[in-house]
Amino acid sequence: MGKFAFIFHPHDVESLGDWVFSEPNLKKKRRHLIERALRWIPPLKRESVTGLQSLTGKKANGEMILLPLVPEQIVKMDSGFILQKLIRAGRIAQDLGCNIVGLGAYAAWVGKRGVLVAKELNIPVTTGTSYTIEIVVQAVLKAANDVGIEIDKAKVSIIGATGLIGSICSVILAEKVPYLTLMARNKIKMRKLADSIIQQNKKKTIIKITDNLKESLSQSDIMVVVTSVPFALIKVEDLNPGTIVCDISLPHNVSPEKAASRRDVLVIDGGVVNPPGKVDLHFNFGLAPGLVYACMAETMILALEEKYEYACIGGKVSLAKVRAISKFAVKHGFKLAQFRSFGKKVSIGQIEEVKKARRGKK
Ligand SMILES: NC(=O)c1ccc[n+]([C@@H]2O[C@H](COP(=O)([O-])OP(=O)(O)OC[C@H]3O[C@@H](n4cnc5c(N)ncnc54)[C@H](OP(=O)(O)O)[C@@H]3O)[C@@H](O)[C@H]2O)c1
Repeated sequence: MGKFAFIFHPHDVESLGDWVFSEPNLKKKRRHLIERALRWIPPLKRESVTGLQSLTGKKANGEMILLPLVPEQIVKMDSGFILQKLIRAGRIAQDLGCNIVGLGAYAAWVGKRGVLVAKELNIPVTTGTSYTIEIVVQAVLKAANDVGIEIDKAKVSIIGATGLIGSICSVILAEKVPYLTLMARNKIKMRKLADSIIQQNKKKTIIKITDNLKESLSQSDIMVVVTSVPFALIKVEDLNPGTIVCDISLPHNVSPEKAASRRDVLVIDGGVVNPPGKVDLHFNFGLAPGLVYACMAETMILALEEKYEYACIGGKVSLAKVRAISKFAVKHGFKLAQFRSFGKKVSIGQIEEVKKARRGKK
């Protein structure tokens, strides 16, 4: 039986309270004291994952290893310190007999995106990027279909387009939609990406680049949000009625409080996967029971398939790897999860409101 580990960190002080200490009032405590305490807490095994069973009958178990740091700390603190802490977490996975370890959310950026961590371990490391890309594309196509957007007429924007996930999603989506807007802050990188997409593109897709977030929010049918920003970057008040936002970023880039005021737009929690079997994490990971993030799903897929050469580390992802992981995912029974918005199932009523808003625009 395969065995995997997944290294995760809380998305914020609130999830630290919910996921780790079962203390919902933690967010009311002083943040700087919590962050100072986290510096000295070593990584630890949070729980074991049970119930993963492939359609082929094969099973794998897992371990959830906590990297006790919030995103702001991973970004701002001394990179050597963070790397050592992550290696320690990886060694816990190794000592527990895991065959592969996945790095979740901001842990995936540490040590040249897993390369330096992998050097210190005897087991493969994956960042989950390939399967996340596949799931983003599936989510965009399904969401468009659900609200009646014809994909071959759709205007799609990718916020964080030059990132590892955003850039490959842009390449794939450019083959499916007629208008694609690439949005990030660095225009030189965007120009380079746009040029390379245009060179490969088999359709006459119109590719636009912009560093103006407000402009892209108001001009799209579907937005894919996939940035490295650990806060609510998207201002829902700037969205056009009938827009779909697929928020892949972890922590998410749309605030639930603000989105609640816009019944005419649909914000989907992106990158969520339904794995095969009866997967149980045995603790509250902020997702509905049985669901996992795409990056974690990639770790599970590789543990079932035992093809560790498809693990994804470093600053490049190939389309070939995305396709291979997607094929393994289908074989083992991993699926895009039913859409949720801020953790709650998207209802038929919500879809109807977005459809109505779209009809009103025409
Ligand atoms: N749901 C899942 O299963 C899953 C799996 C893996 C990763 N993720 C999440 O996906 C996100 C992206 O990951 P990645 O590895 O692709 O990140 P990345 O390579 O670092 O790319 C980040 C992108 O965001 C852009 N960006 C940064 N600040 C911005 C701002 N203020 N406004 C607009 N764009 C900005 C960057 O370009 P500029 O610097 O030029 O602005 C870049 O294009 C992360 O939040 C990660 O946690 C989710």
